[in-house]
Amino acid sequence: MLIDNYGRIINYLRVSVTSRCNFRCKYCMPDKPFSWTPIENILSFEELFLFIKLAIDEGVTKIRITGGEPLLRNDLDKFIYMISSYKKDIDLSLTTNGYLLPHLAKDLKQAGLNRINISLDSLNPKTAQYIANKDILQNVLDGIEKALSVGLKIKINTVALKGINEHEMVDILNYCKDRGIEIRFIEYMENSFAHSEVKGLLGKEILELIKKEYSIKKVGREGSSPAFKYEIEDDGYVFGLIDPHKHDFCESCNRIRLSAEGHLIPCLYFDEALNIKDALKNRDIQRALDILKSVLNNRPKENKWSHDNLDLSNRAFFETGG
Ligand code: 5AD
Ligand code: SF4
Repeated sequence: MLIDNYGRIINYLRVSVTSRCNFRCKYCMPDKPFSWTPIENILSFEELFLFIKLAIDEGVTKIRITGGEPLLRNDLDKFIYMISSYKKDIDLSLTTNGYLLPHLAKDLKQAGLNRINISLDSLNPKTAQYIANKDILQNVLDGIEKALSVGLKIKINTVALKGINEHEMVDILNYCKDRGIEIRFIEYMENSFAHSEVKGLLGKEILELIKKEYSIKKVGREGSSPAFKYEIEDDGYVFGLIDPHKHDFCESCNRIRLSAEGHLIPCLYFDEALNIKDALKNRDIQRALDILKSVLNNRPKENKWSHDNLDLSNRAFFETGG
């Protein structure tokens, strides 16, 4: 079992398979590309899988594939199949911007993927284009329908941005409610790669907008999830709010992250990461386990975002996949 320096059990691994993306979201990487990491710096699926097996053998039960945009990596379904056939009951999920899902959803499902989180920040084609710097909306909506039709469980992630999509919170909520999909509103997390003029809505501001339309009640937090759940009283629909500026979910944080370049990252904000790439390239499992243990012994108590101190994290979301 993997336990960190604060006694938290780590059973959830997030693996970023690429930091590349076909969108340029204002809150993530508006200015890329500068220079993408050369392909030889990226771990192969076999190398990533070596670490995944090690993590599963040490007690990890939940794996999420992230990016950048993970669907840009060729043969991702084969990678999914490697994981799902190694451990049948693994909780295997993926975070994607949805753009390529119309083509790939079926293969991913067949390869053993259980769940998928898709970003949807606007239902207005122009606003969606403004945020992602690309005409994306129809593909994303088609991707959501396709994922539903092949039987993938879906959650939607919506980042609430001041003056950009804030008037759409209820519309996006209704879109998800009509389809029986859970939505999680995410507070914008300040970071040095984002567009400097981007401002996020506070969690309580998002709730105020929803309360104008619906009466809601608190449900609570489920397990180690960072999302606090609320219920619409009329029909029992449950949605989530992720507020990283409060640190109340850090106490039960059960996750670590591996980047495509082999950085083992102890916390979404935290700038310290150890490189496990050489150990994996050399197939030195004992060394990889030692590095994993030292990352777990140096996990921060909580992330460093706060409402008073809007320090910018240098952790790139396109490397850690949110
Ligand atoms: N703040 C909040 N959420 C972010 N994401 C990416 N960058 C940020 C940020 N700066 C979200 C995306 C996606 C997930 C991978 O992380 O919207 O849903
Ligand atoms: Fe790509 Fe996701 Fe970053 Fe948008 S938030 S640019 S979709 S990695």
